[in-house]
Amino acid sequence: MLVNKKYVKRHTKGFVYLHWINALCFFMLFLTALPLYADTFRFLYDLLGARTLQNAHRFFAVIFVLNPIVGLITAREGIWRMFSEVLKFNGKDITFLIKFPLELIGKHPEGVPKQGFYNGGERMNIALQLATWGVLVGSGALLWFGEGLIDNSIRAWMIPLHSLCAGIGFAGSIGHIYLALVANPDSVHGMQDGTIKVDYANVHHGEWIDDMVRDGKINRQELNDALKR
Ligand code: HEM
Repeated sequence: MLVNKKYVKRHTKGFVYLHWINALCFFMLFLTALPLYADTFRFLYDLLGARTLQNAHRFFAVIFVLNPIVGLITAREGIWRMFSEVLKFNGKDITFLIKFPLELIGKHPEGVPKQGFYNGGERMNIALQLATWGVLVGSGALLWFGEGLIDNSIRAWMIPLHSLCAGIGFAGSIGHIYLALVANPDSVHGMQDGTIKVDYANVHHGEWIDDMVRDGKINRQELNDALKR
C-alpha cells in the first residue's frame, strides 16, 4: 500500500539510522586524520591538540565498527538486502553503467533497462563501501592493537593500506553524495522517513515497483492513480 497515496516504503527507520551514523563516523574519521596528510589541516592540531584528535579518531572508529553489528539486530532486513543485491550484479547493471553517466548531469538517457531495488551504480557503491569498511577496520585494528602481535614490518604496511582505503572510500562517498543530493534529490526522502515518491521509484527502480505490484504490496490501481497525479 502507498503512504499518503504518493510514497512507497523503501527503508526501515533502523536502516536510516544505520546509514547516518555510518556517514557521520566516516567523515569524522576522515577529518580527525586529515592533519596527518596535509599541512592545510594542521590548524586542527593547533585548535584541538593532537591527542584530542587521536582520541576522537579512536572513538569514532569504535562506533564505525559497532554500528553495523548493532544493525544486524536493528536493521537486519536492510543489511541483508545490501548483501544479497550486491551479489546480483548482472548484464543489465553493465548496460545501466554505460548509459548512466548522462544522469550525472541531470539527464535521463534512453534505453536504460529497468532497475531493481538498487541500480548498478548503487550496487558498486555498496561493494566499495563494504570492502573499504573491512580493510579500514582490519588495518586499523592492527595499527591500534598489533604491536607485539604481528611483525613490525607487516604492521608498517597497514599505514599505506589504511590511507589508500580511506582515500578510495572518500572519493566514492563524494560521488555518492553528488548523485543523491544533486542528480537524484528525490532519493534523499528515503533516507529521511524511509519513503520515496512512487513516480520517482517507477522511473529509477521500475523492476522493484513491478515486483511490489506482482507480490500484492502495491495495488495496480493505486499505482496508476499516483502516477497520473
Ligand atoms: C550527505 C551525505 C549523504 C547523503 C545525502 C546520502 C544519501 C543516501 C541516499 C538517499 C541513499 C538511499 C538510496 C536509495 O534508496 O536508493 C543512500 C544509501 C547509501 N549510502 Fe548514503 N548518503 C550520504 C553519505 C554516505 C556515506 C558517507 C556513505 C559511506 C561511507 C554512504 C553509504 C551509503 C550506502 C552503502 C548506501 C546503500 C547503497 C546506495 O544507495 O548506494 N552514504 N545514501
